Amino acid sequence: MTVLSPDAARSPDAPTLDVDRNFADSILAGLTASRKTIESKWLYDVEGSRLFDAITTLEEYYPTRVETGILERYAPDLAALMPPDAALVELGSGSSVKTRLVLDALPGLSAYVPIDISAAHLDVVARALSADYPEIDVQPLAADFTDRIVLPAGLAERPKLLFFPGSTIGNFDPDGALALLGRMRALPRVTGFVIGFDLIKDEGVLVRAYDDSKGVTAAFNLNLLVRINRELGANFDVDAFRHEARWNPTANRIEMHLVSRRAQTVSLLGQRIEFAMEESIHTENSHKYSVSGFRDFAAMAGWRTYATWTDAKTRFGVSVLLPD
Ligand code: TRP
Repeated sequence: MTVLSPDAARSPDAPTLDVDRNFADSILAGLTASRKTIESKWLYDVEGSRLFDAITTLEEYYPTRVETGILERYAPDLAALMPPDAALVELGSGSSVKTRLVLDALPGLSAYVPIDISAAHLDVVARALSADYPEIDVQPLAADFTDRIVLPAGLAERPKLLFFPGSTIGNFDPDGALALLGRMRALPRVTGFVIGFDLIKDEGVLVRAYDDSKGVTAAFNLNLLVRINRELGANFDVDAFRHEARWNPTANRIEMHLVSRRAQTVSLLGQRIEFAMEESIHTENSHKYSVSGFRDFAAMAGWRTYATWTDAKTRFGVSVLLPD
């Protein structure tokens, strides 16, 4: 944290904000670009995380519910693939419901390693799981899995099952997704990789999943502007922007935007950011795949698809990838 008071010279009475430099630099770079963007990782402050949890329980947001159902039904099939003494390594440490389904299906697992960027969140998850699974060694790893991962000693030699649910792979662009699949492939002694991805489907169903009738997803997206006002001292008029979920059929992705309802100027860290009417800030992508498309994609990173489990309506896929 660095103390920055960008307007101090001009307005000595302005309160001094304790500004997070990474956050400030990222937001400034995104909003001064010719096509405005905000990096999606900033969606998850305390309020954003609360709103995201609410999204996962919405009727229109089918992915969480459907993926959980798939794991309930098929996770027991993993037992045949896993050697004794294997460790379950989860990318992110979000929904412990899905984690528990895998732990329950694999009673031989000796360790659980959630990898998450938030040490505080990891701590909560690790405590809850240790209490309920006393025979499993819970070893949280605070790291950014979009970067290079260094496994703690002792884990490198152990057989590992990687687990990446939630269709978070879809939030990477194809190059980033391929790079992540390749990095996971290069980890030592990986026995398998269980990964969830959302399937291409009717546009209306997709758009409603990202623009629900209760406005929870809209609040989640708009919370970015609330956060920028609070943490960076900006003066966004939040009501002058609307949330929009667009299907991009060329890129097979849902795009999240914040659209300016009118021409306006916002001040941020001493800069004036101009918005034309209907100009958007692009905040997130959620890429959708076909079952065969995902298989080909995984193959490019050196993975063989052993099985892809889907629900009866083929809304969502969970693939089991093997390293050969
Ligand atoms: N991984 C989730 C997805 O792509 C994340 C997500 C769900 C999300 N709803 C969102 C991200 C709304 C931004 C806005 O489905």
